[in-house]
Amino acid sequence: MIETYPFVLPGIPFDLNRLAPNLNPRSVRNHYYNIYGNYFKRLNEMISANENLYCLKDKTIKEILTVPWEIPTEHRTDVMHLAGGIYNHYVYFKCIGRTGDALPTAKVRCWLNEHFGSVENFKNTFLQAAKKVNGSGWVWLVKTHDGRAAIALSRNHETPLTHGVMPILCCDVWEHAYFCNFNTEREKYIRSFFGVVNWKAVEANLMG
Ligand SMILES: [Fe+2]
Repeated sequence: MIETYPFVLPGIPFDLNRLAPNLNPRSVRNHYYNIYGNYFKRLNEMISANENLYCLKDKTIKEILTVPWEIPTEHRTDVMHLAGGIYNHYVYFKCIGRTGDALPTAKVRCWLNEHFGSVENFKNTFLQAAKKVNGSGWVWLVKTHDGRAAIALSRNHETPLTHGVMPILCCDVWEHAYFCNFNTEREKYIRSFFGVVNWKAVEANLMG
């Protein structure tokens, strides 16, 4: 994933037109460049302006998020927010832009069946969890230490990576991700999101 400082926003990893009609390509483009991109800008500016953050220059975003105690305390909350904003959006955008079948790949399907009983049960559990995020946050499918599938929620830009589990798929439930096209209908957005999941990328996360 994103290398070390200065952190550079990668190009959109899919054809925006493949999102329609589920998600609006223009809104997703705006989300990608203006909102996701802004976290890169702000984190680079913050590191560049504070000598005591130069220790982060040789760390990847993932390394910053997994060893938060190495971030000087006075900047820790801000750095974790910005680095989490980058990482969480990275996983989100990696996992959309459907490339083929709307169904999970055989490996993902098998894993979901094992832990949720069926893909439909998984989707429903994920959806119900997403509805419970108060304010801004994320809903996640994660792999635990012992290989189980679980659903996790995170507030603002907190990330399950910090808690030692492996993120497999996530959905951005900040209002900026859906308000323009779905107004306050978060459920409708989540259902549309499932229509554009790139299950091959989800499988790559699961195998990684
Ligand atoms: Fe977002």
